[in-house]
Amino acid sequence: MKKLLITGANGFLGWNICRLAKGRWHLFGTVYSNQVEIPDVNTMNIDLTDHSELERLFEEVRPDAVIHTAAASDANFCQVNPDLSYRINVEASVNIALFCSDYVIPYVYTSTDLVFDGLNAPYRESDPVFPVNVYGEHKAQAEERILQAYPQATVCRMSLMFGLSGPVAKSFMQPMLLAMKEGRELNLFVNEFRTPLSAESAVAGLFLALNKVCGIIHLGGRERISRYDFGKLMQETFKFENAKIRPCKKDEIHLPAPRPADVSLDSSKAAALGFRPLPLIEELQNLYENL
Ligand SMILES: NC(=O)c1ccc[n+]([C@@H]2O[C@H](COP(=O)([O-])OP(=O)(O)OC[C@H]3O[C@@H](n4cnc5c(N)ncnc54)[C@H](OP(=O)(O)O)[C@@H]3O)[C@@H](O)[C@H]2O)c1
Repeated sequence: MKKLLITGANGFLGWNICRLAKGRWHLFGTVYSNQVEIPDVNTMNIDLTDHSELERLFEEVRPDAVIHTAAASDANFCQVNPDLSYRINVEASVNIALFCSDYVIPYVYTSTDLVFDGLNAPYRESDPVFPVNVYGEHKAQAEERILQAYPQATVCRMSLMFGLSGPVAKSFMQPMLLAMKEGRELNLFVNEFRTPLSAESAVAGLFLALNKVCGIIHLGGRERISRYDFGKLMQETFKFENAKIRPCKKDEIHLPAPRPADVSLDSSKAAALGFRPLPLIEELQNLYENL
């Protein structure tokens, strides 16, 4: 089996890649501050912002392909820690691209819908980026510099993702599930729209893009939906009769990072390659059966 290196293997997406790719690849994963064992994955504890550790990682693993999911992925954290965000989200991501170029192996970089300003959705790959927060700015810089350094790299812009969570990282839906279960009030935006994507569909899209796509590709879910309507759909599917979901507007709640209103992605380029995320209701029903 070929060797696949997954950075951020204990993160939400990385853990789901490990879970879904085992048996098809010989898996190597990096972890950093949360040192957990992942079944069937050779995990290594690495700070990806340390160039010599990165060099050692490539020398020891000699991967056949890399999917880079490690990141400072919380936009509010990045807004107040811009230097740290730059080091992991830009510098480390570009350095990994340079190693992949040296080793002549496929490199998938996971970017985000937050490279857009949210005023002209749905967004296609050819649309100009215009980030409104530090996280989006750093992911956009990384995209550009990765493709300069290694034009054969694949930049997958992911929508907001949800699904089963690993031992440490969670998706945005887990705190919502807990609040619904406990009957705590949940304020959800009626004026913020995304094209949410299940972890299963995200992983399928990443493997479709690996080897087939040079440059940028959008991997979004098939429906544009507000946070509020997503919450209502969750409530129905997971049968939380006592959930207290309150509609609110995004300006009512102050958060450090500005939030674009609608960064829905047009994923027709991926669809042409066979990318087929399920309708949201089916994705949620599948999750309900597997929780
Ligand atoms: N989740 C979403 O809805 C979403 C949406 C759009 C795009 N994305 C993108 O998708 C990718 C995966 O996101 P995610 O939600 O799975 O992230 P996550 O759960 O926050 O995981 C982040 C991972 O990065 C690792 N990491 C952080 N700093 C590191 C460092 N200096 N050296 C090595 N590893 C480090 C963490 O390891 P430790 O925990 O061990 O420190 C963890 O494994 C990211 O590129 C993100 O920007 C995510």
